[in-house]
Amino acid sequence: MTKIPPVTDWATDYDFFDPDYIKDPAPVWKELRGKCPIAHTERWGGSWMPTSYENMQAFVRMVPELSSRNVMLVSPPKSDEFDAELAEYGSSAPPITSDPPEHIPMRRLILPLFTPKAVADYRPFTEQLCHDLIDGFIDQGSCDAALDYAVHIPAKTIAYIIGVDGNRTDEFVGWVRGLVEQGMQDPVKLKHYRHIIRDFFAELVDARKANPKDDLISNLLSQEINGQPIARKAVIAMCDLLLVAGIDTTWSSIGSALWHFAMNPDDRLRMAAEPDLFPTAIEELLRFYSPVTMARVATEEIEVGDVSFKPGDKVVLNFPAANRDPAVFEDADKVVLDRQRNRHIAFGIGPHRCAGSNLARMEMELALRIWFERIPEFKLTDPDAVTWAGGQVRGPRHLPFRF
Ligand code: HEM
Repeated sequence: MTKIPPVTDWATDYDFFDPDYIKDPAPVWKELRGKCPIAHTERWGGSWMPTSYENMQAFVRMVPELSSRNVMLVSPPKSDEFDAELAEYGSSAPPITSDPPEHIPMRRLILPLFTPKAVADYRPFTEQLCHDLIDGFIDQGSCDAALDYAVHIPAKTIAYIIGVDGNRTDEFVGWVRGLVEQGMQDPVKLKHYRHIIRDFFAELVDARKANPKDDLISNLLSQEINGQPIARKAVIAMCDLLLVAGIDTTWSSIGSALWHFAMNPDDRLRMAAEPDLFPTAIEELLRFYSPVTMARVATEEIEVGDVSFKPGDKVVLNFPAANRDPAVFEDADKVVLDRQRNRHIAFGIGPHRCAGSNLARMEMELALRIWFERIPEFKLTDPDAVTWAGGQVRGPRHLPFRF
C-alpha cells in the first residue's frame, strides 16, 4: 500500500483522513481561520474547504450553483462498471442528493416520519432498548460504550422505524460502516456495500409491493408525486438513505458525549447531579462534537472573495468547523453544559437541513439520561485504546469503559 505523505500546509494540501486530524481537528480549523478562509487540497479528488460559520451559511443557500448531486467528500472514480451499477440502482439517495425541483417533493415524503409527534411514538421502544443494553453489561462492571451501547441505539431504532429485522442490526452496521467509513477511501468496498444495501431494500420493496403491510415501506409505496406513484427505485434509495443517515451519525454523537464525560470528570459529576441540564448539554455536545461534514459540487463558476470555484469543483461543508467559530460562539473551544445561546448547525442548515433531527435528539437524550441514571460513575480503562472514525462522519468507534 502506498504511504500517504503527511500534510505540511493545511491551507493548500489538507487531508480529512489524516489520523491526527481525525483525532482532534480543532487546531487545524483554528489555524485555517487565521490564515486562509477557504482552504484547498488536491488529495482525494480535490476540494475546497471553508471553515467559518458565515461561509457555511452562505454556501448552503447557493442552490443550484452548488449542487447536492454528490454529497460525499470523496467521489467514486468514474468507470463504466461503476456507472452501469449506478444506473441499475439509481444514482442518487433522495432527498439528500436531490436538487430543485425534485428536492422538495422528495423531502416532503420523509418529513412526516420524523415530526416530534411521530418521534414520540418511537420513544418507548428506544427507552426500553437503552435499559436492555445496560442490563446486558452492568453486572460485569465494564463495556465498550461505543460497540455495546451507543451503536445499537440508532441502529435498532431505525430498523424498528423502517420495519426491518431488528436481529440483523449488526449486519446493517457492518454495511453502513463499509460504505461510510471504509468505502470513502476504497471504491471497491463502496461499491460492494452499496450493492448489498440496495439489494436488501430492493427485495423488501418488492415484497411490500406484492403484500402491503402497515409499515414505512408500504406507506412510501402508496404515496404520489404530481399524481404519479413514487418510482420503485426512489423508494429503495430513500430506505438506503434512512439506514445510512440514521446510524453512524447518532452513534457518533452519543459516543462523543460519553467520551467527553469520561475525559472530563467535572462535567460528568455536574451532569449526574443536575439532570435538568440535559436539554442545553445535548445541544452543546452536538455543537462541540458535530459529527457530519457534507459536500457540494459547483455547477458553474463561482467567485467567493479571491477564490474561484470551477464547474465540477467539490466544496466541503464543514459544519463541525463552523460550530467552533469564535466569531459566533463565545468560548467556542470549551464545552459549556448550560450554554444559553447556541445556534449550532450540526444538523446542517438551509434546504437540506437534517430531516431526522427530532429522532437524533430523542435517541441522544434517552441514551445519556438512562446511562447517567444507571451508571453515574464511569471512566475509560485506557484512553489510548479509543479509536475514531473521521471524514464524512466523525465519532469514537471503541470506548473501553469501567464503572
Ligand atoms: C446526530 C445525528 C445527526 C446529525 C449530526 C445529522 C446531520 C445531518 C446534516 C448535516 C444534514 C445536511 C446534509 C446536507 O446539507 O447536505 C443531514 C441531512 C439529513 N439527515 Fe441527518 N443527521 C443526524 C441524524 C439523522 C437521523 C437519525 C436521520 C434519520 C434516520 C437523518 C436523516 C437525514 C436526512 C433524510 C437528511 C436529508 C435531508 C434533505 O436533503 O432534505 N439524520 N443530516
